[in-house]
Amino acid sequence: MMIEELENLDLVASLRLVSEKYPNKVVFSTSFGQEDQVITDAILKNGLAIQVFTLDTGRLFPETYELMDRTKARYKTTFKTYFPDTEQVEQLVENKGFNSFYESVENRKECCGIRKIVGLKRALKGNEVWITGLRAEQSENRSSMPIWEYDEINQIFKFNPLVNWSFEEMETYLKDNNVPQNSLHKKGFVSIGCQPCTRAIEPGEHPRAGRWWWEESQKECGLHAVK
Ligand code: ADX
Ligand code: SF4
Repeated sequence: MMIEELENLDLVASLRLVSEKYPNKVVFSTSFGQEDQVITDAILKNGLAIQVFTLDTGRLFPETYELMDRTKARYKTTFKTYFPDTEQVEQLVENKGFNSFYESVENRKECCGIRKIVGLKRALKGNEVWITGLRAEQSENRSSMPIWEYDEINQIFKFNPLVNWSFEEMETYLKDNNVPQNSLHKKGFVSIGCQPCTRAIEPGEHPRAGRWWWEESQKECGLHAVK
């Protein structure tokens, strides 16, 4: 039983087990957030056969790009980087301008679709397991997420190794292992996505309150379907 097996292993052992069970068919998506940096550290320090990739929307924070390069240098590696389709972005911008996402949820999903989902599909193609940095604590939508599940939409197993980690456990890991982090975290940013769609939060606000803050509900971009 994969779920029980995985829940009883520590992070590195669980990543190793999955990478050995599905040789060269395991990929990890990173947005260079704190959760993702924990997983990146575990994969790269232990030389696990897991391809690390990121989706560059073209709208990320300068601080995130800086962190990407700092992380590359630290682990002496490169990350597979997927960009959106040029023509699709050109058309979107020509038809709707640069910031259409503020106008409606539909427009926002269109932009995420073009700038993230298309690349995600390319990244997952031909693979069997997709590792993410999702944590149950992050939101209501994520609270009942299992450590291992089949993602029907993307037709791939999804492995969420940090699903049961608390924020404190994550911070302790990052500190103990001296893992590079986004300098924005010191400025009140918690969950960080694209620059125009992320703001800092006030103490006491929900950790995801700074994502698509102008929208009332459904703070998900479509990478992780809400059931
Ligand atoms: S999102 O759906 O709201 O954007 P969030 O920022 O919480 O997601 O990140 C959750 C997980 O989604 C990350 O741990 C990572 O696996 C994946 N992810 C999010 N954004 C990206 C990105 N730009 N590139 C690669 N993976 C990403
Ligand atoms: Fe576009 Fe904002 Fe989605 Fe980034 S988060 S892809 S800028 S709508």
